[in-house]
Amino acid sequence: MKIALGSDHAGFRLKEEVAEMLKEMGHEPLNLGTFSDESVDYPDFAVKVAEAVLDGQAGAGILVCGTGLGMAMSANKVPGIRAAAVSDTFSARAAREHNDANVLCIGARVVGSGLARDIVTAFVSSSFLGGRHARRVAKMTAIEKRFGEVR
Ligand code: RB5
Repeated sequence: MKIALGSDHAGFRLKEEVAEMLKEMGHEPLNLGTFSDESVDYPDFAVKVAEAVLDGQAGAGILVCGTGLGMAMSANKVPGIRAAAVSDTFSARAAREHNDANVLCIGARVVGSGLARDIVTAFVSSSFLGGRHARRVAKMTAIEKRFGEVR
């Protein structure tokens, strides 16, 4: 699967490691930056990855910042994105199976690269289970539509 990757400066090093992990796992990273430790703003990269997922350039996205939180909050502002900030493997799998997450967010200041590898593995190897979960995801989409207009 092609996977769009993005980070800010705090997530840059782990994001580069994730790119290598994905290649080892047989996936194709689409690295959308940032490309150094120089300070940048995480929403700029969250939106790049969100757009790549929505326009079909990538089947999923992975975002890395210090905590994973700012990336998730930013990506979730984009209609159609379901981004999950995750720091354990159980949640990484559930985010896909139950919530049909299309973006995984990781905090480089929260998890080390070993746990990040397991989280990424759990995320990319899991799929949406549908059924009762589809009804709930449809309700999330309905909320997005209802409150999506700028007020
Ligand atoms: C950057 O210092 C930090 O605020 C950012 O990487 C992220 O943790 C925000 O959610």
